[in-house]
This record gives sequence, structure tokens and C-alpha cells, in this order.
Amino acid sequence: MSDPEPFKIKMVKPLKRLSKEEREERIREAGYNVFKLRSEDVFIDLLTDSGTSAMSDQQVSEMVKTEQAYAGGDSYHALDKTVKEIFGFDRFVIVHQGRAAENVLFSVLLEEGDYVPNNMHFDTTKANTKHKGGEPVDLAVDEAYDPEAIADFKGNMDVKKLERFIEEKGPKNIPVIMLTITNNTGGGQPVSMENIRKVSEVAEQYDIPFFLDACRFAENARFIKEREKGYEDKSIREITREMFSHADGFTFSAKKEGLVNIGGLIGIKDEELHKRCKNLSIIIEGFPTYGGLACRELTAISTGLKEATKDEYQTYRYEQVKHLADSLLEEDIPIIEPVGGHAVFVDAERFLPHIPQTKFPAQALTTELYKESGIRAVELGTSAFGETDEEGDIIPAEMENMRLAIPRRVYTLNQLEYVAGSIKELHEKREDIQGLKRTYAPELLGHFTAEFEPSD
Ligand code: F0G
Repeated sequence: MSDPEPFKIKMVKPLKRLSKEEREERIREAGYNVFKLRSEDVFIDLLTDSGTSAMSDQQVSEMVKTEQAYAGGDSYHALDKTVKEIFGFDRFVIVHQGRAAENVLFSVLLEEGDYVPNNMHFDTTKANTKHKGGEPVDLAVDEAYDPEAIADFKGNMDVKKLERFIEEKGPKNIPVIMLTITNNTGGGQPVSMENIRKVSEVAEQYDIPFFLDACRFAENARFIKEREKGYEDKSIREITREMFSHADGFTFSAKKEGLVNIGGLIGIKDEELHKRCKNLSIIIEGFPTYGGLACRELTAISTGLKEATKDEYQTYRYEQVKHLADSLLEEDIPIIEPVGGHAVFVDAERFLPHIPQTKFPAQALTTELYKESGIRAVELGTSAFGETDEEGDIIPAEMENMRLAIPRRVYTLNQLEYVAGSIKELHEKREDIQGLKRTYAPELLGHFTAEFEPSD
């Protein structure tokens, strides 16, 4: 038996469930894109774990108490102290969310034609790199692309591939090396401490700054504690400090493990780089002591970071995600194994082998799940990560997943059982599910606004 939740529910939001006919109408009106649904038409919302956490009573009460100041508010000083404590960084820049951190950092570092290696880019990191004229390059270990390969750290960067890449392109054309912990695109898979250290050594050898895309750093630390030799008796906080000691900087969307609805940070060790990012940020985000946020958001991040790095919270978090994964595995639903930290990724290629990737099987599965049971998942496959060639033909993504992201401290195990049961029912009638034809998608981050229709 796993430990029960280390909190109790103090406030609730009643949920509404539409009829199947109503959902069919809503998804058709939404162009078969769940981003275009109204959230009130969703019964269980697993679209994202970003900005969807339930806050603690302490976070909310501090938000009310904090001073709203343009400059030098108490909330800034509280966050400054927390960033030092948790990450061991003296310098940071506050931004309104993770992609703003990427925008500021890449605006300062990237020049046209530069390369940015990462284990695997997430959609916004990829888009921001391209937006600044750079080329995102994914260099994860081979098993990261195999949903059935069982390995402890499937998020790792392939260090040999990285070295070869640097030698081939030349270190001068690589202004930063990134490592995403955990690797969201690849299934929320962790990166080992050994890999973080090795990548940092390679970066240092070639004098290239090394940054962590640290959205889910504490979940990553929990995996290290569970799976890496020598860390079993260390706390999440100790492991976190060690992970960040290897990095020159980090980008962080506080919407995940800041346990808040909005916010982000860039941590930077180098004084000069910090100054450049801070000065750009004043123009496009806000004055450094609030950075595009209301001061109350800063206090919430500060307290949220402390709560997210508690061992008992991380144990609860992992067990909840694992519970959903185990329920699906019991029913032989194909998912990425082992399960990652923030979500269960259903492998749509194995779920719907009769639909080719050019007909968006993961998108089709996502819309069917909404239609059948009111659950909103998200497609992370060819709509999100595929490309189109010069003739306009679709180049499929490496992986074709439907992600069930679990918002933090929001849903009960009973609700997750409903999710598992609904997917099982869908699996039983999988042969009836048809592919989709894409009728519209802009070039960058096209999946957010793409439109589809049933393909014949
Ligand atoms: N990096 C990673 C690894 C992410 O997962 C995200 C966001 C970002 C950067 C950007 O952060 O949303 O605050 O601008 N991921 C969310 C998701 C949106 O659903 O996985 P943001």
C-alpha cells in the first residue's frame, strides 16, 4: 500500500459532464483540436501539468499579504533567498513563463545559423531556437526513441553524439548546450546525475555554456534518488543542489514545479551574461524585481518551490502518476515505459496501427478520448513535432504519443481510475477510430491552432 496524500482538500470546484452528443458537437466546432475547447466543457483535464497545480493555503495566504511594489518588494527578496537555497544560484532573472526565459536567453546568445544541442527540445524551446535563426538538434540516447525499452535514465543525452556534433559543427557555432530535466518530449524521462556531470564536462572542455531546461527538476531529482547509486539516502534538496552545481545556468517554467499558475526564471552564473539578460528583460518582461509578474506571484513561486522539493510531496506525486500507468499496463494499453515523472504517454502508433502517421493517429486518439469520456489529453506526435517538406508533404515525428499530463495536487485516484477505464473502453473499439486530415497549421507551434477534419 502506498502512503496516502500528504494534504487534505480545503476547497473544491464542481465538475460538469456534457453528454456524448454535446461533446461530439464541441470537438467538431473546435476543428478536432482540443486546445480550442472551452475548459468548462472538459470533465477531466489532462491537457497539461503547466499552470494547473492546486496551490497550498500557505501560498494563497502569502499572496494576499505580500506588498505590491514596482521595485524592491518583499516578494522579490523572499524569492532571491529561495533561489539561493534551492538552486544555489546568486543571479537570476524573473520572467512571466518558461518560453519567455527561452526568448530572453536565446535573443542574447544566438546568432543566425547557430546550433543548439539538447537531449530533446520541447515545442517552445524548439520554436524559440528557430525564431532566433538557430537550429535545434536533439541528441538523446537511442533508447529514448524506443517506447518499449526499459532503462533507468531514458532522458540522458548521448555524450558521444554530442562530442561528435561539436567536432563536426565547431564549438564557435554552438552558443549553448541544453539538457531538459525531465525530458518532456520523450515521455517525462529522467536524466542521471552522471549524465548531467558528463555533459557539463564536455561543455566546459569546449568552453560552451551549459544550461538546464529545468521545468521538472525535482521530479528528476526523485528519480535519481530512487535509481542512481549513492543517492538513495540524499534528500531531493541535496540532489537538486548537486544537479544545478554542474550548470552555468537554467531556464525554468515555474508553472510546473513552482506549483503556481504563471511565472518563470532564468538562473545565470556568469555576471556579464546575467547583466545582458536582465537588461533585455527590462524591455520585454518588466523591472527585475517583478519581471512581468504581479509581486504576489513571486511569493507563491517561492513557497511553491519549497513545497515541490519536499521528499514526501515527490513520493506522492510519483505514486499518483505510476498508479495511472499501472492501471493502463494491466489492460495492455501501450504506453512509454518506464513511466516518467509528470504524465503517462500513450503510444498511438501501437494503439492505432491501422492509421499512418500522416493521418495523425495521436491527434485522432486525443479527440476520440474527449468525445467518448470528456477527458482532455494532448497530442505530442506529428501535429506537435512533425515538419512539412518543400512540397508541403508531412514529415512524421519520431514518436507519436497522446500525453495524459497530471496536474499537481488536483485529481484523486478515483478520477484517474475513470481515465484508465475510459482508455480501456476506447482500446476495445480501436479499430473503429479513423485518422484525421490537417486543414490548417501555422509554421511554428502549429499544433496549438491547427484544424483537422475526419479523413476518408
Ligand atoms: N520546457 C519544457 C520542457 C516544457 O515542458 C515547457 C512547457 C516549457 C519549456 C515552456 O514553459 O509553458 O511556461 O512557457 N510545457 C508545457 C507542457 C506547456 O504542457 O508540457 P512555459
